[in-house]
Amino acid sequence: MRPKVLVTREVFDETIEFLARYFDVSSSQAMVNLSREATIERLQGMDAAVITTSDRIDDEFLTRCTGLKAVCSASVGFNHIDLDACTRHGVIATNTPGVLTDSVADMALCLTLATVRRLSEGERMVRAKQWKGSHLKQLLGHDLHQATVGVCGFGRIGQAIAKRLRGFDTKLLYTDISRADRKIEDALQATYASKDDLLRQSDIVILILPYTPETHHYIGKAELAKMKVSAVLINMARGGIVDDTELAVALKAARIWSAGLDVYENEPEVNPALFELTNVVLTPHIASATETTRRAMTMLAAQNCVAALTGGAPPNLLNPDYKKYLKG
Ligand code: 8YV
Repeated sequence: MRPKVLVTREVFDETIEFLARYFDVSSSQAMVNLSREATIERLQGMDAAVITTSDRIDDEFLTRCTGLKAVCSASVGFNHIDLDACTRHGVIATNTPGVLTDSVADMALCLTLATVRRLSEGERMVRAKQWKGSHLKQLLGHDLHQATVGVCGFGRIGQAIAKRLRGFDTKLLYTDISRADRKIEDALQATYASKDDLLRQSDIVILILPYTPETHHYIGKAELAKMKVSAVLINMARGGIVDDTELAVALKAARIWSAGLDVYENEPEVNPALFELTNVVLTPHIASATETTRRAMTMLAAQNCVAALTGGAPPNLLNPDYKKYLKG
């Protein structure tokens, strides 16, 4: 009997075809997120799930999907997966690092430029037929070139962002739980700074750090108060890293100049206070959303799934101790 695999979100035909060489595949090929209950119901009797960050995998989920052997996420972030619960249930968990680094870094620069140059406001003005000609003081933005940019999170993607910023002659600061190798600092012309110093000195703060209990509300009221009133905040990481309620208050009070957000607390719900503001650019979690990258991510998730169910070593195993509680 061939193992059974559920693909919880619409993926590419080649991904389904690849999986179908090994498994009986069921897929939600509709651009509609299956509800948690519908996912659990469809996973009954199944061996694995290819998931996304919209799928929350926790103890309750795994208890109700008793035959599950693997959850393979098409994402580099994995805060939606309770790894300890997966290990307790003997379930393999995997992610897709690396393949999306450059697309996410590109989008970080895209969102930063759109925010500092007020792209959304300009687009809305033209589309609403309100543009009555150019004026010297119209839609004045801030320059990215030669700005002081602080990157919070200096892993693969943070360093790829730094590499791109070199082209803008920026003064680059970074902060992380540990300092990067000096050779990396030299190559990227990046200077390590404490979080406080980075917040106080940066014209633009870019967040690209993992979401963990320790980084919940990494940027809240106190942190926003440390930033320049001319500062711009860019969240490329995860909702929850920024207290969106406090951010909306700070933006409305002009305590910082602007923000660009690709992720939100409780997404796809977005704090309604943000919709009332013009000094924020809002995008729908599309940092990795290029044709090439999403094809690579979904195929890598599928390859992880094949390895997990055929006794191989998944290339991107998140819980190497998954056999810890398995009997026999
Ligand atoms: C995912 C992401 O592609 O990779 C991540 O961690 O946040 C995105 O790039 C998206 O959330 C679908 O899983």
